Amino acid sequence: MAELSLVFLGAPGCGKGTQAALVGGRLGVPAISTGEMLRAAVAEGTELGQRVERIMAAGELVDDVTMAEVVGERLGTADARDGFILDGYPRTVAQMGALDRILAATGHGLDAVVSIEVPEAELVRRALARRRADDSEEVVRTRLDVYRRKTEPVIAEYRQRGLLREVDGFKGVEEVTDEILSAVAVRV
Ligand code: AP5
Repeated sequence: MAELSLVFLGAPGCGKGTQAALVGGRLGVPAISTGEMLRAAVAEGTELGQRVERIMAAGELVDDVTMAEVVGERLGTADARDGFILDGYPRTVAQMGALDRILAATGHGLDAVVSIEVPEAELVRRALARRRADDSEEVVRTRLDVYRRKTEPVIAEYRQRGLLREVDGFKGVEEVTDEILSAVAVRV
């Protein structure tokens, strides 16, 4: 098993959750989805869940301070000690700075950032086929707009740092998994 610390980014519906679970299984590291963690908090009706429910339903981003707390706590747990895949974090330049600090505090480095690229029409098609609570056409358009404005600058910054690996996500699920594994230079 390869011990790697990775970030998966990409527009809503690009397949980052699907691929984080598959690649995490292949590498033997936990896939940590901030979206899943927040949905679980909403489903459980925790204080966090009550705070973020309306923001998520509107397709907007939860605030950076809350997200740093959620991710900092999760990356401090024992199963993330030898590597992880962070799915959907960081999504703003401020979150990127927060992640740098969390990684330094928890003794992690970042091996690569995978950006999964899918044409917009396919992103909308996938979301509307899935019909999660935040998958109405209007909310999907908002999530895409938020992604372009707030997360694309994060991708540009990781490119500058030489960490970015861009992968074509408009292919079958298995092919995308193989592309990601070769992009992060792992054979398993
Ligand atoms: P999050 O859960 O991260 O949602 P998202 O970014 O909108 O992404 P999705 O989950 O819709 O898509 P995905 O790229 O994971 O694709 P998936 O594998 O599911 O976040 C939800 C919300 O939480 C945000 O809007 C925000 O409010 C909040 N949040 C989360 N993180 C935050 C952060 N860091 N800061 C602030 N707020 C945050 O696939 C999509 C569909 O396509 C599935 O049906 C799947 O089966 C299908 N599919 C996957 N791969 C393929 C393929 N290759 N071919 C065909 N179909 C495919």
